[in-house]
Amino acid sequence: MSQIIAVLDFGSQYTQVIARRLRECQINSRVYPYHTSAEDLKKIGVQGVILSGGPSSVLAPKAPMPDLKIFDLGVPVLGICYGIQLLAHHLGGKVLPSLEREYGRGKLVVETDSLLFAGIRPEIQVWNSHGDRLEAVPEGFQSIGRTENSDFAAIENSDRKIYGLQFHPEVFHTEQGTDIIRNFVKGICGCVGDWTMANYAEMTIERIRKTVGDKNVILGLSGGVDSSIAAALIDRAIGKQLTCVFVDNGLLRKDEAGAVEKLYGDNFKLNLVVSRSADLFLDRLAGITDPEQKRKIIGNTFIEVFEAEVGGIGEVDFLAQGTIYPDIIESVPIDGNPAALIKSHHNVGGLPERMRMKILEPLNELFKDEVRALGEELGLPKSVVWRQPFPGPGLAVRILGDITRENLTVLRNADAILMEEMKAADLYYSVWQSFCVFLPVRTVGVMGDERTYDNVIALRIVESIDAMTADWAKLPNELLAKVSNRIMNEVKGINRVVLDISSKPPSTIEWE
Ligand code: XMP
Repeated sequence: MSQIIAVLDFGSQYTQVIARRLRECQINSRVYPYHTSAEDLKKIGVQGVILSGGPSSVLAPKAPMPDLKIFDLGVPVLGICYGIQLLAHHLGGKVLPSLEREYGRGKLVVETDSLLFAGIRPEIQVWNSHGDRLEAVPEGFQSIGRTENSDFAAIENSDRKIYGLQFHPEVFHTEQGTDIIRNFVKGICGCVGDWTMANYAEMTIERIRKTVGDKNVILGLSGGVDSSIAAALIDRAIGKQLTCVFVDNGLLRKDEAGAVEKLYGDNFKLNLVVSRSADLFLDRLAGITDPEQKRKIIGNTFIEVFEAEVGGIGEVDFLAQGTIYPDIIESVPIDGNPAALIKSHHNVGGLPERMRMKILEPLNELFKDEVRALGEELGLPKSVVWRQPFPGPGLAVRILGDITRENLTVLRNADAILMEEMKAADLYYSVWQSFCVFLPVRTVGVMGDERTYDNVIALRIVESIDAMTADWAKLPNELLAKVSNRIMNEVKGINRVVLDISSKPPSTIEWE
């Protein structure tokens, strides 16, 4: 068992980022509710405790309070933002309300050769986000760093190994932030860095087993990265107690439904239920041209089909989802009630509320790159782990206007050519997304001696980090020429191929 650092969560949106930074230092970190008792932390055998930031003021009557015995546990404690105020307030220092919130970049001047700042430059940029201000440190503490606005931006009591930082070392904008965290866990807590993704998989599998017991779990498998990796992980934990439902809505890419069935049903031997519902979806979409209406019909039909499939499976207690950490929008504000620690997040189509099942989200602590690393650890193929994102409404938002079976076939054939050529050129995995869009406009062309009057395919190939912004990918002309020639020669109904050279913003990645 690897050494553990406990992160007590006071509701900061960055709590999981702290845990992630610890994992980057090969440290096993667990996020616990802020009120976890010192006794429990002792039983777990933590090597150190980090108090996260949070939206509250320690001066507020209902401020979330930790068990104060954690300061006497005999393991090092680091308070970040709300955490520093908390420890200062309760150990005899002075915290004052600030007239304005200090938010954004600041300069930290590192004052001493504290172990926390070993190897840190004398002056670094830090990221602040706090209201209250530290006016005086508790007895036995000293300042080890100051900013323009605070003489106590970093404090320590090296005898008791209690440290506090007013700024957020976990945030990207803080220079050498991970080094500061590493100094705490390795230099001060004495952790050796014995954590790996294999440990994480093992731990999570154990946790799933404990949570689920002998109950049954259902998961909507889309074939995308997150739901696939969640399925593989839960399968490792509880095998046949998991049933995956894959809905073929008729809006998938060429051969996709078959590939999912083959991989998960045949290779991985998951309990897989395939709902062949293409006709239902396509009939309901007939004649619908408004993008929002398309999405609504697809979402509602999905819930209906999914519920019907689940109804046929028997007793199911858990609904598993591939929610990952960035899907979680923010913590529910804490008002002193521990139950308020439940996080709110996007739920796919409102399914969980309707189905009254317990939710199982084994990836909800991980960032995308960590989910992929986990997928590799579980032995999933590259084609799953490094798959490009594909929208829930599928090809419906890539056929402008009316969705017909004919247009779907045309789009699938064109899209398959683009995918094949991107893979052949070794570029498929290095762009964010590459796909075709069917434009229901007809233009004139010539084929042999004949005049044609056919539809247009647009190529949409973008680079992006997180889909919030994107730029069109600059691909070799030879590749574009080959894709264009092949689509016009091989796909009946297309006589023109255009390239989308719009960035996001002001465009979006998808066309609808
Ligand atoms: P846009 O078009 O908004 O897309 O720039 C950003 C990213 O989100 C994907 N996308 C969706 N994914 N359901 C999804 O699951 C949707 O309705 C949806 N719309 C867009 C898109 O493919 C891109 O990666």
